[in-house]
Amino acid sequence: MTSVSKSSRWLIPSLAAAFLVLSCATTPANDGETLFARNCANCHGPYGEGDGHGAVVMNISPQDLRQIAQRNGGIFPRDAVVSLVDGREQSKEHFLREMPVWGEQFAQHQGDVQATEADVQAKINTIVDYLESIQH
Ligand code: HEC
Repeated sequence: MTSVSKSSRWLIPSLAAAFLVLSCATTPANDGETLFARNCANCHGPYGEGDGHGAVVMNISPQDLRQIAQRNGGIFPRDAVVSLVDGREQSKEHFLREMPVWGEQFAQHQGDVQATEADVQAKINTIVDYLESIQH
């Protein structure tokens, strides 16, 4: 009996941990990979490697997003990437841009819900986290 109660002391926390892991893994739709697949993969390819369908028809070919750090001396320029993806600052300067201005796209209504500025920033940051994670 003692041995059973000893092992069940560990069973509960490990079940709880397993549940936590599972519920994280299945939280819907707003992890970076999903956001990327939904919004970016069309042009940048499913893994950001730059061969999405859009790449064929665009004048400026999207670069391999897995090599942003490599092209920048091994450092991922996070702030610059955030502001580039956001695009609202750049588009004020009439920067030639084929990529959608995500700061505006994500601010649009999602069904009935009006996205707040915090939602917009969170989405962009989550996607940039994902981009950072696929550098090689
Ligand atoms: C309609 C096609 C299209 C979509 C969709 C798109 N992009 Fe782009 N992206 C481009 C093009 C084209 C460029 C090259 C610069 C330009 O013309 O704007 C680019 C450039 C970039 C760059 C700069 C790459 C570098 O090394 O200079 C980043 C980062 C980027 N995109 C991220 C994203 C993210 C994140 C998403 C999704 C939220 C996304 N893009 C969706 C077309 C697209």
